[in-house]
Amino acid sequence: MKNMQTQVCETFAARYGEGGQLFASPGRINLIGEHTDYNGGFVFPGAVDKGIVAAIRPNHTNQCRVYAIDMQEEALFGLTEEERPIPSWAFYIFGVSRELQKRGGQVGGFDAVFAGNVPLGAGMSSSAALESVFAFALNELFGCGVDKFELARVGQSTEHNYCGVKCGIMDQFASVFGKEGCLMRLDCRSMEYAYFPFRPAGYRLFLLDSRVKHQLTGSPYNDRRLSCEHVAKVLGQEFLRGATMEQLEAVRGEISEEDYKRARYVIGEESRVLDVCEALEQGDYERVGKRMYETHWGMSHDYEVSCEELDFLVEVAEACGVSGSRIMGGGFGGCTINLVKEELYDAFVAKAKEAFAARYGHEPMVYNVVISDGARRL
Ligand code: GLA
Repeated sequence: MKNMQTQVCETFAARYGEGGQLFASPGRINLIGEHTDYNGGFVFPGAVDKGIVAAIRPNHTNQCRVYAIDMQEEALFGLTEEERPIPSWAFYIFGVSRELQKRGGQVGGFDAVFAGNVPLGAGMSSSAALESVFAFALNELFGCGVDKFELARVGQSTEHNYCGVKCGIMDQFASVFGKEGCLMRLDCRSMEYAYFPFRPAGYRLFLLDSRVKHQLTGSPYNDRRLSCEHVAKVLGQEFLRGATMEQLEAVRGEISEEDYKRARYVIGEESRVLDVCEALEQGDYERVGKRMYETHWGMSHDYEVSCEELDFLVEVAEACGVSGSRIMGGGFGGCTINLVKEELYDAFVAKAKEAFAARYGHEPMVYNVVISDGARRL
């Protein structure tokens, strides 16, 4: 983060002069509870030590100039719907500005420079980090008075209205509310949340990034969401959350096999998250790990959001006696999240690298999870 801060400050000063104020916002991991957020269910995320740093300063015009260090590109845009930026990365920032305005915020023109170190396409939500850092900063700099939950919703609405992804609230919530050393259990129906200190003695939590991103045509994410909403409707419920397997079986003849399997995954995931909460309270990490594997194979076989490379990494983990391993995030590539006993860590990482490289031609990246604070001024 330090180097990135210096780079962002220096670039800001060189391009736009003095007076840029520094903000940061993280990416996230999720222990368990995948594709449950938009079903009104529970998620278990934590913010990480990788994120976006931005320097921002109001410029007293109605135009914005934003420079992305990683893309080496500047976007220029205004603040009305007609004045959208051209580069697609700038949609996140334009969208956030617009969503704050829709909530009554008097957002004016600004100059900004930003850089990030959340690996792209890894399922760690670099986009939520970008949305949150701008939502948090513009809210402060323009005195919009939007509360933290609504800031998370500003990011989510940006995805819905400007980026075409009908995501749930987990990523933006984690990026805004993150707290060092704590995972968070969020009930996405009531929006109640609790911090869970997470220091599993004798275990390591880390990610293996396959560095594979499958670009699927259409929008497979939105498509999963539609299936869930359809089944909930058939069940006469607002959300799939709270539905039982018995209820699902009862309507099996009225829905497609695909929708049935997707709903079966979501209902199973709900009970796994609750079981993990209990297991964590008892310090039973082996049980947590078992549920992680179940989530993986549910996401692979029923929800169909995994891929060959991620299934392979999880199989290697199983063969090495790793306590838990699963695909993390929306799917179709990215990382596995792994819970492993200290003494098995080195052997597993070596094996995973070697076996993956032998099959796919490159090694996965290893990221140790450091659970960190959410959006903040630096
Ligand atoms: C993406 C979405 C989240 C959530 C996850 C899957 O990260 O942005 O809202 O649905 O996928 O758990």
